[in-house]
Amino acid sequence: MKNIDRRQFIKEMGMISGGVLLATSPWFSAFSDQKKTVGSKARIAIIGPGSRGQLLLSFLAKNPKVEIVAIADIYQPSIDAALKIAPKAKVYKNYKSLLEDKNIDAVVISTPLDKHYQMVMDAFDAGKHVFCEKSIAYSLEHTYTIYQKYLSSKKIFFVGQQRLFDPRYIHAIQMVHSGEFGDISGFRTFWHRNNDWRRPVPSANMDEYINWRLYKAHSKGIMTELACHQLQIGTWAMREIPNKVMGHGAITFWKEKREVYDNVSCIYVFDNGVKMNYDSVLSNKFYGLEEQILCHKGTIEPEKSKYYYEEIPPAPAFLQMVNDVENAMFGAIPFAGTSWVPETANTNNGHYLLDKKPESDGTSLMLEAFAEAVITQKQPALIAEEGYYATALSLLGHQAMEEERVLIFPDEFKLDYLNHKKTSSKV
Ligand SMILES: NC(=O)c1ccc[n+]([C@@H]2O[C@H](COP(=O)([O-])OP(=O)(O)OC[C@H]3O[C@@H](n4cnc5c(N)ncnc54)[C@H](O)[C@@H]3O)[C@@H](O)[C@H]2O)c1
Repeated sequence: MKNIDRRQFIKEMGMISGGVLLATSPWFSAFSDQKKTVGSKARIAIIGPGSRGQLLLSFLAKNPKVEIVAIADIYQPSIDAALKIAPKAKVYKNYKSLLEDKNIDAVVISTPLDKHYQMVMDAFDAGKHVFCEKSIAYSLEHTYTIYQKYLSSKKIFFVGQQRLFDPRYIHAIQMVHSGEFGDISGFRTFWHRNNDWRRPVPSANMDEYINWRLYKAHSKGIMTELACHQLQIGTWAMREIPNKVMGHGAITFWKEKREVYDNVSCIYVFDNGVKMNYDSVLSNKFYGLEEQILCHKGTIEPEKSKYYYEEIPPAPAFLQMVNDVENAMFGAIPFAGTSWVPETANTNNGHYLLDKKPESDGTSLMLEAFAEAVITQKQPALIAEEGYYATALSLLGHQAMEEERVLIFPDEFKLDYLNHKKTSSKV
């Protein structure tokens, strides 16, 4: 995956103006002092340079405004791999010692989910700015405590929700906010795979360490690892959180040594009744992953970078004929009524959101924004809040499935910044 800088990003976004971009994605304010920060450096360290952490490191290493000062990990293969990307980094085996290093302005935390809480809290206590990989924490209580800690710390806080910086998604949400597709009718979000999600291990006793995602003590599985990216699209597009969630989870296929669900479905309900469905199965990948935004006048599939208008040219003649035949057939049955019309799925090819495939999924740009914010010490609007709600919704969905009941978003965990109506006091 390539690094993408802001100039290239703007080219990819085509005609979206700066003002419109900031209305849809206020966190782009991170780049407002970009010219003034030339020559400055954010001194960044990483805790947990595993699979994701190494990708983050590779982007940081290409940014002239970043100095990778140190790494901390307890697993030698991760340290060795990280040093190949950042050979000058100081190595710590204990993250607490890294946090004492006064040459570090900010830390990127990319450890397993259950480790995030203590590490993020310690990092803020040590006076560091924090970029924490999603999801923020293992419980809603911890996620909320971290958010409060961030507020009182006056430090920068980013969560690794890279869709917020992905040109496809920004374009999609901007079109929704502009009213191009009319009212939002619903969301169908899904992430399907056909593999057990298990990584190879050097020895059997390392299984839980390497495959932490599959064990309840370390992870909430699909919801905290995959769903949190996708649920964010609902809040971002609607500018509010869904207040109700229900769902069902099961282990249906990959049964061996697995503790987390491999098959989940949740329904999130917004106050106006609009629903966001989330589905994931790990034993069929036909539909892949997508966040379909269904509106009265059109549908958007940001992952495919496409949108479709609801009104399409007349169906090809043979489909029309099928419809006519079915109409005639069912029209003869009294209880079906004459108004019954079969709905033929929309088969138009739609339009592309961007002129060409984007060069990045937003990760490199997000890290670039983080470095800018660390240098200027200005927290971009709403980025922490978007991350907070994405984690909260994934945790609530998981809880609803575990407890097999309908949950209401608890008032005590709602933020003052709800509904994007207010902006962060730190901006
Ligand atoms: N934003 C995304 O798209 C995305 C993608 C993948 C993973 N992630 C997130 O990144 C995080 C890491 O995932 P991963 O797939 O890289 O996991 P991983 O297991 O590959 O890496 C975790 C690293 O943390 C290290 N670690 C564990 N305990 C530690 C400790 N006490 N001190 C220091 N290091 C420790 C491990 O040794 C390992 O190197 C997770 O939160 C995950 O959800 C985000």
